[in-house]
Amino acid sequence: MTQVFPLMEKNRTFLVTGGAGFLGFHLSQRLLEMGHYVIGMDNLATGSLANIAQLQTHVRYRFLQQDIVLPFDVSSLDGIFHLACPASPIHYQADPIGTTKTSVIGTLHVLELAAKLNIPILFTSTSEVYGDPDQSPQVETYHGNVNPIGPRSCYDEGKRCAESLCFDFQRQLGVSVKVARLFNSYGPNMAVNDGRVVSSFINQALNDQPITVFGEGKQTRSFCFVSDTIDGLLKLAQSECSAPINLGNPSEITVLALAHKVIALTNSHSEIIYRDLPIDDPKRRCPDISLALDKLGWSPQVTLDKGLELTCRFYSTLLSSKKEKVPHL
Ligand SMILES: NC(=O)c1ccc[n+]([C@@H]2O[C@H](COP(=O)([O-])OP(=O)(O)OC[C@H]3O[C@@H](n4cnc5c(N)ncnc54)[C@H](O)[C@@H]3O)[C@@H](O)[C@H]2O)c1
Repeated sequence: MTQVFPLMEKNRTFLVTGGAGFLGFHLSQRLLEMGHYVIGMDNLATGSLANIAQLQTHVRYRFLQQDIVLPFDVSSLDGIFHLACPASPIHYQADPIGTTKTSVIGTLHVLELAAKLNIPILFTSTSEVYGDPDQSPQVETYHGNVNPIGPRSCYDEGKRCAESLCFDFQRQLGVSVKVARLFNSYGPNMAVNDGRVVSSFINQALNDQPITVFGEGKQTRSFCFVSDTIDGLLKLAQSECSAPINLGNPSEITVLALAHKVIALTNSHSEIIYRDLPIDDPKRRCPDISLALDKLGWSPQVTLDKGLELTCRFYSTLLSSKKEKVPHL
């Protein structure tokens, strides 16, 4: 029988791998607000000590510094949210072998723990499993168009192999797995310098630095505000859905239009400059979320304008409080 995460019961304990990162922070915070105990596990490769410090103000939070590529053990858990993996291209391409190890060996370790404790696991996969798609929007049954040997392969193929492991553990060992294919998520607490398009544009704009657009900026992306992403993950955790499910915002925008939106929102004097498109950069990214709507009753609620406003406010406060030095991006 498929296990669901006991989120509606009180005082349950959940492991969040990648808990010091952007989504791990927001998910942990939400689980704590719901009255649960959270164990954050992270090797701090891209995670932030500031995120941990904020979570540690909660008595029900505990942090374990651990690389999931190495064996580990945790007892008395009610479920695992497995998020650990660098998500931004500059980070996952900086150590591609390490990225593949995290996705494959790390996910194997996390699945083995779920099997041993007989608990459900939710894995955050990615829209990158669709590669540079030749159909849009992307539905879960689409098998993708992925270059297996390019500079993005460590991430794309690593996640595809991790998904494959998840479903082998489900079929062979009866582990209850939930797999979310996340499309771009954004919001407060994204690292300033990790090169993701929303954080880069906003920080460039707030500093009146040139905004770097790759190619002509005609490639599209769809951006999901973090509170919507976390709502989707929590709904998936409580569902019996045992097939991969897209979580993202289907409203598509070109990268150039996003740059103009950010400039307008921040009253910036930034100019737009153009750089060569990275290899294998997807031309279109747009989720078909019919399955999430049907199985989870989930769809994004926060508009891009509102989400960008909240994100700009976060970075603007961060800048003025000079808590983090903003590098020239
Ligand atoms: N944010 C998005 O738009 C997005 C989109 C698609 C998929 N995802 C997936 O969601 C998850 C979280 O993404 P995020 O945006 O929070 O990224 P992030 O880089 O902010 O967080 C990832 C966390 O994992 C940790 N980590 C990396 N390798 C590890 C290892 N070997 N052992 C332990 N910890 C390790 C990092 O230190 C970091 O804290 C990732 O798996 C990512 O692939 C995110």
